[in-house]
Amino acid sequence: MARLVIVSNRVPPPRARGAASAGGLAVALQSFVAPGTLWFGWSGRVTERTSSKPRMAEGQGVTYATVDLGAEDYDRFYVGFANSSLWPLLHFRLGLMRYRREDFEGYLAVNAAFAEVLLPMLREDDMIWVHDYHLIPLAAALRARGFTGRIGFFLHIPFVPPSVLEALPPARELLQALCAYDVVGFQTQTHLADFLDCAHRFSGFAVDGDEVVTDGRRVRAIADPIGIDAAGFSRIAARSTGTAYIQRMKDSLAGRALAISAERLDYSKGLPNRFEGFARLLDRFPQQQRRVSLLQIAARSREDVEEYQALRRELDRLAGDINGRFSQFDWVPLRYMTQTVERTKLAGLFRIARIGLVTPLRDGMNLVAKEFVAAQDPADPGVLILSRFAGAAEEFDQAVLVNPYDPDEIAEAMQAALEMPLEERQARHAALRRAVFDVTAARYCNVFVDALAA
Ligand code: F6P
Repeated sequence: MARLVIVSNRVPPPRARGAASAGGLAVALQSFVAPGTLWFGWSGRVTERTSSKPRMAEGQGVTYATVDLGAEDYDRFYVGFANSSLWPLLHFRLGLMRYRREDFEGYLAVNAAFAEVLLPMLREDDMIWVHDYHLIPLAAALRARGFTGRIGFFLHIPFVPPSVLEALPPARELLQALCAYDVVGFQTQTHLADFLDCAHRFSGFAVDGDEVVTDGRRVRAIADPIGIDAAGFSRIAARSTGTAYIQRMKDSLAGRALAISAERLDYSKGLPNRFEGFARLLDRFPQQQRRVSLLQIAARSREDVEEYQALRRELDRLAGDINGRFSQFDWVPLRYMTQTVERTKLAGLFRIARIGLVTPLRDGMNLVAKEFVAAQDPADPGVLILSRFAGAAEEFDQAVLVNPYDPDEIAEAMQAALEMPLEERQARHAALRRAVFDVTAARYCNVFVDALAA
């Protein structure tokens, strides 16, 4: 059988396997990687120059190979093109997009450097699975160096229609780079359709059904929604409720309902709108004052990118406003923290929450929505309030779906969730739970690898 080679910008350190991890990507893949797999990517370290040789580590039969990024490469590739051009663009935030030619050159240069380091470790019949927007040009860079085996790419974030993509100066180069893969995967049918439209418009190749026909090859495009280890997360959540940590949380609530949100501190997640929605709940439905607290965990992220610094300042101010306005001496409406919380603790917090508030302005999938559902007690489940613009909404029509741009809609959804009868909560949760147990991380991996092997 062909060896699987995974390439992603972030590589989980071997010792952290199965433990806390920030990105959904790493968590989903960790449950799948078999002994013998090679996992290659950035070490997370920034040094004077980008390494030309990998640092190797082993863990449970998996080989991890990582390289450091030089400071200039980090600025142009990670802070620059990946997170200041592509990230805002692919989340429909053209106003936040910053483009510089030298950043795009740095992006190509790092992909070429990754290909240089990876190539000597490859065997002819390896199957390579590349992840996410940082590494779109990697297949072309490997092909240019003579690799002829199968290479697949999966985009974890949204894709955009041609009228949005055209704002990116190197739109054509990017589309052509995607056409160097054998399989390209997207989270939803919508992203897949947008990709095919863009391929038609920008790549210069013909599109035939779900395939792009390049010079002598066919690129197959698929929709393959990512999932979680639903049974595992559900078990962790159930176990976690007996811990001292969760007991302390319950004590602090003193019988009040908990609404919870947890994600990276990122402008795609709709945090200011959500804060305003919560303030409107307390304003328009004053009977909920003292009866509910919102715990917002917004783990600091990409702190070298200016827009993230600005967002943090804005949230500090908004959190202060809300608490100044509504707090009473023995009740704080908004508990806002920017630290990360361990997965096991998070699972327990989700389980005791009455509301899971997941309202990104745009999101590839959003695994927090899936984790919240898996964590609930089916006998007395909490309610998921979900943005229509998260990929998860395509599978979750039994969530309370909202337009995250409308704080009043968020307030009304919270009011409805707080008053929702048990039978309705149970019925909605049962449907969501089926979806989460059906589309798991293992299924996601199998579907992609089967498509790549075909
Ligand atoms: O979900 C998109 C993603 O970029 C993942 O690839 C990554 O693990 C996560 O967000 C965290 O972001 P970063 O790697 O920039 O810290």
